[in-house]
Amino acid sequence: MRIVKSVSSMKRLVRKTKKHRLSIGLVPTMGYLHKGHLSLVRIARKKCRFLVVSIFVNPTQFGPREDLAQYPRDTRRDLRLLRKEEVDAVFIPKEKDMYPQDYDTVVRAERLSTLLCGVSRPHHFQGVTTVVLKLFNIVQPDIAVFGMKDFQQAVIIRRMIVDLNLDIRIITGSIVREPGGLAMSSRNIYLTPSQRKNATVLHTALCHARQAYRRGVRDAKKVKRCLTRKITEKKGRIDYIEIVHKDTLLPQKRLQKNTLIALAVFFGKTRLIDNILL
Ligand code: PAJ
Repeated sequence: MRIVKSVSSMKRLVRKTKKHRLSIGLVPTMGYLHKGHLSLVRIARKKCRFLVVSIFVNPTQFGPREDLAQYPRDTRRDLRLLRKEEVDAVFIPKEKDMYPQDYDTVVRAERLSTLLCGVSRPHHFQGVTTVVLKLFNIVQPDIAVFGMKDFQQAVIIRRMIVDLNLDIRIITGSIVREPGGLAMSSRNIYLTPSQRKNATVLHTALCHARQAYRRGVRDAKKVKRCLTRKITEKKGRIDYIEIVHKDTLLPQKRLQKNTLIALAVFFGKTRLIDNILL
């Protein structure tokens, strides 16, 4: 497994790989890998000849009051895990290499980036699209794999691919959960044991909503009220609960096939996201 620490050496390796006509796969991550990340790596491993995983805690997607400085990191452990997955190269660029001093250009999905998580994190998705496009340009993948846990992120990347005429196939992997149902996240380590227990309500409440839908409930307001009550009972502070169309991310008054129920909830200072697709 190659460990590549600069943009120029990654580009060199990509040139060599392309010369051999090997298909390239990319799984972008911010490291501190868990089974959710590894599930994406396994999907990608099957779909390409040369698999690159990137580890870069991207500063531009964090807000000024967010957890950039505290974001968990353990590169040695990450590399050990990736070696077991038979990854070909791990790209770990330095911040100054990705964002040199006079860096001045960004990419933004104008509308999609303002919805859902974009309301309380107004600059977040601009940071994501910018860094992901940079990674795409450096690694030039044929396929790239993203998790459904960050559903909005995957929708925005898909939009960017179409809008900017990129020839990359995006594959999404389903949400990997802890035994209690909590969606795996690098940020779960911030939770106290009792918050972690309470946070399992997110998944159970979303599953109840889906059951209600299967029983014939269609009224989005009613479903939202029920979710709010269940989550608040467990001391979750709601950032948003939204019932939207899975492609447009626009609110829907009635639940139907292709409806996405997405939420962001604080437990203490930790903001967790989860979703379910009907
Ligand atoms: P990060 O949070 O490290 O996540 C990397 C990838 O893993 C994303 O595609 C995310 O959706 C996926 N993922 C996270 N938890 C998951 C889970 N429990 N099950 C399945 N997939 C999961 O998302 C980012 O990093 C960044 O925004 C990035 C795309 C790397 C750009 O900086």
